[in-house]
Amino acid sequence: MWVKAIRAELAENEFQTVELNGQRVLIGRGSKGYFAVVDRCSHQGLPLSEANGVPARIQRDLLECPHHGARFDPYTGQAKGLPAIRPIKALKVKEEDGYIWVALE
Ligand code: FES
Repeated sequence: MWVKAIRAELAENEFQTVELNGQRVLIGRGSKGYFAVVDRCSHQGLPLSEANGVPARIQRDLLECPHHGARFDPYTGQAKGLPAIRPIKALKVKEEDGYIWVALE
């Protein structure tokens, strides 16, 4: 099910979080375009988006969790840096009518 999420106005390496159908989703933009992941780190289940006011970082198309520094490919969800070894949940995105849409299962 495609859900209209945010306006397509993010600059590269910016992100935003939204609640979609009761699920917190982090939508960001890297050099390959927009991505969306469930806002939950696979390391300790904490929010990827922030840790005590410190936001996640997007750098070289990797999303870095602000809690303990795990890195993920946000387009596939694959873990790319310790301490995480399991993937996060990547969601399909599309841009249409000036909005980013996210596919929820
Ligand atoms: S909770 Fe994300 S790195 Fe530990």
